[in-house]
Amino acid sequence: MATERRLHALVAEFDDVASITSAARRARESGYTRFEVYSPFPIHGIERAMGLRATRLPWLVLGAGLTGLACAFLLQWWTNAVDYPFRISGKPLFGVPANVPIAFEVTVLFAAFTAFFGMLILNRLPQHHHPIFESERFRRATDDGFFLAIEADDPRFEPRLTRGFLDGLAPRSIEECREAAPSHGVPAWIKAAIAATVAALLVPPAWIVAARFQDSARPPFHLVHDMDAQARHVGQSANPHFEDGRAMRPDVEGTVAFGEWRDDARLATGKDGESWCASIPLDVDAQLLARGRERYGIFCAPCHGLSGYGDGLVAQRASDLQEPTWVPPSSLHDPVVRGRSVGQLYDVVRNGARTMPAYAAQIPVQDSWAIVAYVRALQRSQHATLADVPEAERAALGAH
Ligand code: HEC
Repeated sequence: MATERRLHALVAEFDDVASITSAARRARESGYTRFEVYSPFPIHGIERAMGLRATRLPWLVLGAGLTGLACAFLLQWWTNAVDYPFRISGKPLFGVPANVPIAFEVTVLFAAFTAFFGMLILNRLPQHHHPIFESERFRRATDDGFFLAIEADDPRFEPRLTRGFLDGLAPRSIEECREAAPSHGVPAWIKAAIAATVAALLVPPAWIVAARFQDSARPPFHLVHDMDAQARHVGQSANPHFEDGRAMRPDVEGTVAFGEWRDDARLATGKDGESWCASIPLDVDAQLLARGRERYGIFCAPCHGLSGYGDGLVAQRASDLQEPTWVPPSSLHDPVVRGRSVGQLYDVVRNGARTMPAYAAQIPVQDSWAIVAYVRALQRSQHATLADVPEAERAALGAH
């Protein structure tokens, strides 16, 4: 059995630093390349004696870092300046300072991963067992033994010649170190533990799959109930407790939806029963008109113009651009518009008219009436008759 185990190395044990160092130097000088030195503590200069070259890892890390840097800049340049150019605050589409944080992060990321995994790969790690541990004497490597192991896969290795070479170094002992017997295998308890873990991990997905393909009358399983699982009747379902057998109940007569309550129908709708209000249901005074003028300037003048001729800035701009679908705002002095009752004008403000949008969401009820009052004043200003002037002042007008 023991003879079938592959030879890993010839291991020579030495007494002290001086002899192991010179042994290592001799091994290198004799042309051996695959050999190791094991000692209880680090030995200065041993890597020179063994002829170890510096690790290539720093170069790999440098290369990876530069690759990361290039990738980060390329990615940011491609996404920001080429694929989806989007200018923000007049800044250039691609500028180095803005890209520094990500470039830095990606550089570090690539370099760190290469350092970590490169170290493992170059050292051929992870390795759960090393053949050298098969050597009985080798345990002293952590105590007072200095070992030189010439490995069997060294090109110059030849069992008898190599043993002769080691003999010439006058070691304390020479041992053939053979690899562990393959029959060792994985211990039964580890296999059992792995099997048990896999079986346990399979339970949740199996449970989910089973539930997915099964019909169940029970409600879904909820960890947190919230309001999902209340006892209730869903729409369009039956409920034998009611005479008509329907779970959905009709509205109780006189029910008012939220926000639909109208204290004063005239004020809210501009309607007096079925017809439009002929007068403003508020006290029209200088204050209301001033408010109406201000609101008109904000909400209506952009389209209808400050004096109501339909020549606001938006309208002018639209006609300058010759917008094909633009419908010009009505002139508020158009005979048809002048003929509208205040209730109708109020309705236009609230609900819009044809292509004019509704403003109920932006302008409260009182303000809407204030605007209507001001529109009436505007119309009057362009179509005043002598009868509109107080009698006492007519004479003064005539004088001019
Ligand atoms: C975005 C531009 C715009 C704004 C702002 C705007 N309107 Fe208009 N308005 C229009 C247009 C366009 C029409 C003509 C609609 C049509 O004929 O399709 C119109 C029509 C009207 C009419 C005539 C409706 C009818 O009965 O024929 C009145 C009155 C009116 N607007 C009042 C107002 C008042 C008051 C405001 C401010 C609350 C206002 N508009 C704000 C664009 C606007």
